[in-house]
Amino acid sequence: MIGRLNHVAIAVPDLEQAVAQYRDVLGADVSEAVDQVEHGVTTVFIELPNTKIELLHPLGDASPIAGFLEKNQQGGIHHLCYEVDDIISARDRLVAGGARVLGDGEPKIGAHGKPVLFLHPKDFSGTLVELEQA
Ligand code: CO
Repeated sequence: MIGRLNHVAIAVPDLEQAVAQYRDVLGADVSEAVDQVEHGVTTVFIELPNTKIELLHPLGDASPIAGFLEKNQQGGIHHLCYEVDDIISARDRLVAGGARVLGDGEPKIGAHGKPVLFLHPKDFSGTLVELEQA
């Protein structure tokens, strides 16, 4: 059911430093920083030949990644995003299999303007999983 790895998201305490490292040291293609006000994060996308890296930095007072960065002060892998063809049928199959969908269970429009859902990390080996309808 799951398709390509769309991106790996890394929460970073210092966005400029992380951008410089990917751009200058690793030699990657790095996007501009975009404030995603409705998601409480600033994002930078790094295009790799086979997937993307999403750098996440807290935006505003109630950022959903603030707690994660408190526990992981140097940053860390925050979630993996897998592509699915049909997010509603993927969700229904996962819920039927006992997985928990975060929030109200309805897809939201994510950072790429496509419907996304997040699955509880306790159901996936301690990994927060995002599904994106590609
Ligand atoms: Co993501």
